[in-house]
Amino acid sequence: MATLMRYEEYADFDWNNLGFGLTRTDFMYKAKCTLNNTFEQGQVTDYGNVELSPAAGVLNYGQGIFEGTKAFRGEDGRILLFRPDQNAIRMQTGADRMCMQSPSIEQFVDAVKQTTIANKRWIPPPGKGSLYLRPLLIGTGPTLGVSPAPEYTFLVYASPVGNYFKEGTAPLNLYVNNEFHRATRGGAGGVKSITNYAPVMKAILRAKEQGFSDVVYLDSVHKKYIEEVSSCNIFLVKGNVISTPATVGTILEGITRKSIIDLARDLGYKVEERLVAVDELMEADEVFTTGTAVSVATVGSVTYNGQRVEYKMGDELVSQKLYKTLVGIQVGKIEDKYNWVVEIK
Ligand code: COI
Repeated sequence: MATLMRYEEYADFDWNNLGFGLTRTDFMYKAKCTLNNTFEQGQVTDYGNVELSPAAGVLNYGQGIFEGTKAFRGEDGRILLFRPDQNAIRMQTGADRMCMQSPSIEQFVDAVKQTTIANKRWIPPPGKGSLYLRPLLIGTGPTLGVSPAPEYTFLVYASPVGNYFKEGTAPLNLYVNNEFHRATRGGAGGVKSITNYAPVMKAILRAKEQGFSDVVYLDSVHKKYIEEVSSCNIFLVKGNVISTPATVGTILEGITRKSIIDLARDLGYKVEERLVAVDELMEADEVFTTGTAVSVATVGSVTYNGQRVEYKMGDELVSQKLYKTLVGIQVGKIEDKYNWVVEIK
């Protein structure tokens, strides 16, 4: 059980310089379950280290999945979550793929709410950022052979965050990598497995060394179709048509991705989910990326096979219109006709 309650409205913290780094907050949520059983009722505890068997499934065989969702403080003081039920559903799909037990949708959403409220003083002031919630499901039971762990732990921790990229809101410069692939057909690229992230670090580091913001990955079969960026989905705009790679098992089914598809259609754009060739990316009017951490980020340039294309910039960008609409709904400034926002009382 948590040993300490803190009542200040805001933590003593510099809210003006938030990036996407871990800030230690006060509390986290924790629940356990054994294989083929349901999760016990979880508890909010003091934030701290987790003790693991050296033979834990997550440490040895990567049995782990995670989610990301955000809590916003509205100007009217309301605390708002964005579509946490969608994260819960995605965790269940991922857990099934990775042979893990998962919490129910109700338990997941309740855990996110409890973690948010317990860390309320870490939710940034309006306009300064959000509280990023990281639900994590890991195989904590010991297993020496390659088999599902006998015990699972569901954790939710939180950190105040600002912009994901060091560029802030400035346009990103992306590098199309045709050497490393993020996912293959039949693999686990479509779920939020922890195993999808270490393999892209080399590609990210190499791109950053050359001054790029992040990497666009191509499909591993034809090396021709764009898939996603290391931590977000990708869209291109050509005229009135917005295209994004279809989710065929190698692309994460982003919650921001599908929200943006709905918003774009309602704003009158035609949205296509399909195979998108890298050549189309190089001929687009606009490119942008989406994700919970990233939100909607405008892309300024893409470099592929030694060729760099720069996209139009300015205030009239489709990506900016979508960004403003999405964030407006998330912070309670724009009417939420979709019922996406969940207020925590
Ligand atoms: C998110 O957008 O929440 C993510 O999970 C991206 C993460 C890899 C930083």
